[in-house]
Amino acid sequence: MRNKLIIGNWKMNLGLADAQDLVFKLKSSIGSKQSTEVAICPPSVYLMTLMNVLKDTPQIKVGAQNMFYKEEGAYTGETSPKMLKDLHVQMVIIGHSERRQYFNENDKDVNLKVKSALKFGLTPILCVGEDLKTRENGEAENYVKNQLIEGIKGLNNSEIEKIIIAYEPIWAIGTGKICSGEDANKIIKMIRSTIKDKSSSNVSDKVKILYGGSVKSDNFKEHIQYEDIDGGLVGGASLNFEEFIKLIDLANTAHEQTQSHPV
Ligand code: PGA
Repeated sequence: MRNKLIIGNWKMNLGLADAQDLVFKLKSSIGSKQSTEVAICPPSVYLMTLMNVLKDTPQIKVGAQNMFYKEEGAYTGETSPKMLKDLHVQMVIIGHSERRQYFNENDKDVNLKVKSALKFGLTPILCVGEDLKTRENGEAENYVKNQLIEGIKGLNNSEIEKIIIAYEPIWAIGTGKICSGEDANKIIKMIRSTIKDKSSSNVSDKVKILYGGSVKSDNFKEHIQYEDIDGGLVGGASLNFEEFIKLIDLANTAHEQTQSHPV
């Protein structure tokens, strides 16, 4: 059975002192015995400092929020996968809806980034999700399916099984509106079966698929109990130490429960 995974996406938030403070607190409270895997994705400029703080804490993984697909060159302002690897960063968020919306990233860019991350041994966290209009038109499943297929295009089975997928409906991100557990589970099941079609059930059983969008400790209990929802990509609530710990605790409890009573 897959372990649950809670990832904090800090976005462009926190000053350096607050970022360090949060990491020190997480470091001292996350035990090595818990089943839930934990990762944080701070702003890139903090990666080196925070990697140093966490170098003896393997139970907290660190990811970047974005990268370019080229290894090096005249690309002012960009960060390469090789640079992330040099810092021992383990993961990278790719194709977050804010990147697609504000920085015009399209499915082709996302696919190039996924491939490049894998080439450099980074785990891509591939984000997919529909906007409100698409959902209201009843096209959410098709839209997300297409984003997924384009995102993993050209990957072989051993590459697909290394990816993490985050289903993040845009209308739920930072809005306080959460997609219900039932609706999120429906899309996440579709994502898993699409992965199965593109690879094998052996691969699709291994891939972690997260929900993201206004995840908080008081609304996530419902989602995390579904066997196919492997955890959360958490924005706002990951900036608050107590909230983030509560989400990890919820995931630990859900894992123990699904082991005995799968939903
Ligand atoms: P939110 O962000 O939890 O603040 O809605 C989630 C995300 O964008 O990853």
